[in-house]
Amino acid sequence: MMVEKIQQIAQEIAAAPLGNAAELEQFRIAYMGRKGRIADLFDDMKQVAPEQRRQVGQELNGLKNQAQERFNQAQEQLASAATDHTGEQTFDFSLPPVPNTLGTRHPLSLVRREIVRIFERIGFNVSEGPEMEDDWHNFSALNFPENHPAREMQDTFFLSPDRQHLLRTHTSTVQVRLMETQKPPLRSIMPGRVYRNEAISARAHMVFHQVEGLYVNKDVSFVDLKQTLYYFAKEMFGQDTQVRFRPSFFPFTEPSAEIDITCLICKGEGCNICKGTGWVEIGGSGMVDPAVLESSGINSEEYSGFAFGMGIERISMLKYQIKDLRLFTENDVRFLRQFEGII
Ligand code: PHE
Repeated sequence: MMVEKIQQIAQEIAAAPLGNAAELEQFRIAYMGRKGRIADLFDDMKQVAPEQRRQVGQELNGLKNQAQERFNQAQEQLASAATDHTGEQTFDFSLPPVPNTLGTRHPLSLVRREIVRIFERIGFNVSEGPEMEDDWHNFSALNFPENHPAREMQDTFFLSPDRQHLLRTHTSTVQVRLMETQKPPLRSIMPGRVYRNEAISARAHMVFHQVEGLYVNKDVSFVDLKQTLYYFAKEMFGQDTQVRFRPSFFPFTEPSAEIDITCLICKGEGCNICKGTGWVEIGGSGMVDPAVLESSGINSEEYSGFAFGMGIERISMLKYQIKDLRLFTENDVRFLRQFEGII
């Protein structure tokens, strides 16, 4: 009974088709697996009469080896299938190539570069400054009074217990560095990373990017500020984009204004992104406070200037209709690939 079964399976093993990986795997499961035919036979050994066990056991082991050998041989053959028996290449070189996948630029890099290009066309150059800063460049030189609540407003990450060193909370630090080291006229755009101690959510992050702008010259007025930002908004978001200035306060500008543009999602009709107002804020701006010019060594009688600071994430979200800030830092390729081909 048992011996017949062994012979039958031996024939099946010899005849089983093993021409490809799928058949190989099927064979492995059917005969060699823990629940396969040979394992079943080992279980049946219990029923074999004691005086026959030795012989049946030997035959069963032989069967097991036979299956293993057949499997190994077929596996080897498959592995060397790209060459024929003479060692000649049989690989088909006329097959279409597998495309080379290239990396893509991060959307924030794309938008930063576009912002820089737009301002370069009207004579702005690019400046950068350190992310680890001191109190002077982040606050004091920008007219934040000692112990003023505005210092707390920015949720600063301090780097030293005396609060003299910190991670910059805005790119306005670079304005100060520029005015301290260069003579007017100054016309510069300053992109960079900034830090604030905020819980990470769809709308806030502890690390984000700003782009600062500064123009200092003789007779600079609010008209220059408005025209510059009108030009920027139309170049960046399209010619039919409207800009609105809302009175605001910053210690380092006077007067100050928040910059709003028409909501690109609903085109001003009112939606949940613009909270029904038709407008979305993209940054702050104002005329450089004379006290700031003076503390950086620029004569405020002779020179005046305007400054603005905008969030690069915010601009990117509006431009590409991205609804969650966290996408920028998660590095999910399904997100990043959507920016393929934008140059
Ligand atoms: N630094 C300000 C902020 O981070 C933005 C700003 C820059 C406002 C320049 C006015 C002028 O909120």
